[in-house]
Amino acid sequence: MVTLEDIKENHLVRQYMDLGNAYIGNIGAIEHNISHAELSAELCSQILTKLGYSQREAELGAIAGYLHDIGNLVNRYGHGMSGALIAFNILMDMGMEGDEIAVIMGAIGNHEENSGGRSVNNVGAALILADKSDVHRSRVRKHDFAVFTPRDRVNYAVTESQLLVDEKKRLITMKISIDTRVCSVMEYFEIFLTKMLMSRRAAEFLGCEFELLVNDNKLL
Ligand SMILES: [Fe+2]
Ligand SMILES: [Fe+2]
Repeated sequence: MVTLEDIKENHLVRQYMDLGNAYIGNIGAIEHNISHAELSAELCSQILTKLGYSQREAELGAIAGYLHDIGNLVNRYGHGMSGALIAFNILMDMGMEGDEIAVIMGAIGNHEENSGGRSVNNVGAALILADKSDVHRSRVRKHDFAVFTPRDRVNYAVTESQLLVDEKKRLITMKISIDTRVCSVMEYFEIFLTKMLMSRRAAEFLGCEFELLVNDNKLL
């Protein structure tokens, strides 16, 4: 069975992910590097494990988490859908079973809020939660504050972000610390509202409640 380790050792995967990140860097997008892939992979598998899903489902979560932004190679817009198709080819070549490839394709193709992404399976729901919680200053590539987009500014404001899973209470908490000199709590909420609502629906898909804490203020 194909594992995350096999994917990490696949030369083509690494090449496509690095080039995709470089291409979107040329148009000023935030970092979507290997750290983001590894963090998403780890978190996605952790969420599924903690909530009692099988080890294999958690491994598929890790693979989906690692590969989810590979479509940036084609275009930032619709990178979920192009990424799902790239993943399809890679995983077919690696000999993964069709039913497992399907889970990963559905998850990757549905991780973007701005192209109609919805939680279509457990792995996809965990992927949304993992991906959307990786908000951090270190992902902003621009150095000139004057050319920051609202998304850059909000990412830059975040000094710490954590996703906590309480399996007993079936509660998933996104806990974020922001530097309010860069952006206010309300501004964070406004700009990330669609991502946060998508995360809430993903938590509900997994039978959990979702809570958003920004500087200890409960916003959701
Ligand atoms: Fe993405
Ligand atoms: Fe991502």
